[in-house]
Amino acid sequence: MNYVSPEALAATITAIQQNKQYATIDANLVERIAREELAKRTNKKEVVKHARSRLRQAGTAYFKRQINYQRALEQLQTATALDTQKAACRDIMALHTSTAERLDILDDLFATLSQHLPPATSVLDIACGLNPLTIPWQSLEKDATYYAVDIFADMMQFLSKAIPLLGRTGQATAASVIPDVPISTVDVAYIFKAISCLEQLDPNAGELLLHGLNAKHIVATFPLQSLGGRKKGMLNTYQARMATLTHDQPWTVKEFIFNTELVYIIEK
Ligand SMILES: C[S@@+](CC[C@H](N)C(=O)[O-])C[C@H]1O[C@@H](n2cnc3c(N)ncnc32)[C@H](O)[C@@H]1O
Repeated sequence: MNYVSPEALAATITAIQQNKQYATIDANLVERIAREELAKRTNKKEVVKHARSRLRQAGTAYFKRQINYQRALEQLQTATALDTQKAACRDIMALHTSTAERLDILDDLFATLSQHLPPATSVLDIACGLNPLTIPWQSLEKDATYYAVDIFADMMQFLSKAIPLLGRTGQATAASVIPDVPISTVDVAYIFKAISCLEQLDPNAGELLLHGLNAKHIVATFPLQSLGGRKKGMLNTYQARMATLTHDQPWTVKEFIFNTELVYIIEK
């Protein structure tokens, strides 16, 4: 392990953020990854290359192209009826691979959740991506509050304006959920397709989240399709992962398998 000087750390962070794809990522996460990469190697270019590659894997890789958030907001502002609102949300969610993969199962997924969960008065959407745009499909109380957190500042600014346009109060925060797991008390926490992604950053992420979140119910899901689009034994792998994460807990765990997503409802 190399000694990491404050000057080297600052220079590495600046170099990483020079590429605009990484400029809006939560600064604490960038610092953490820069520090880890500096401790492993001495070549400055290699440090920046490896740090960017990890940040890309964590979040940047999911963008199909750069999102014009101003245009997306205008789309939501002009869509006031439920069907046009849903159509606008679908269009925007198609721009992020993770929500794009969910579009075909949206109706079935949220119908299933509403059969097994009471309408929520508060939701915490962890590593949310564009998932808050599924609000029109969700079973929420009229006065429900929707909290969302992900690492991209521009996406969170967009969601802070989008959530009220979808008829809810809420807060979208740019932060890393690991190691500082959000502590708000909520009816339901969503960890949609995030455990597998966050465990690349920290192998204990799933455990930290399932134990640390103050939620009566947690909906945790796993992808059944890789970013490249192929299924590779993912169902067995993630069923085994969830079994390990929950086997010695007094929690009730229900499993649902959809075409593109493996879904668990956990009652703590
Ligand atoms: C597979 S996507 C899931 C997105 C969303 N939950 C969904 O299912 O559509 C993983 C998400 O985790 C976010 N992410 C990665 N590392 C994170 C961290 N340390 N803290 C918070 N969010 C993170 C990424 O930006 C990305 O939006």
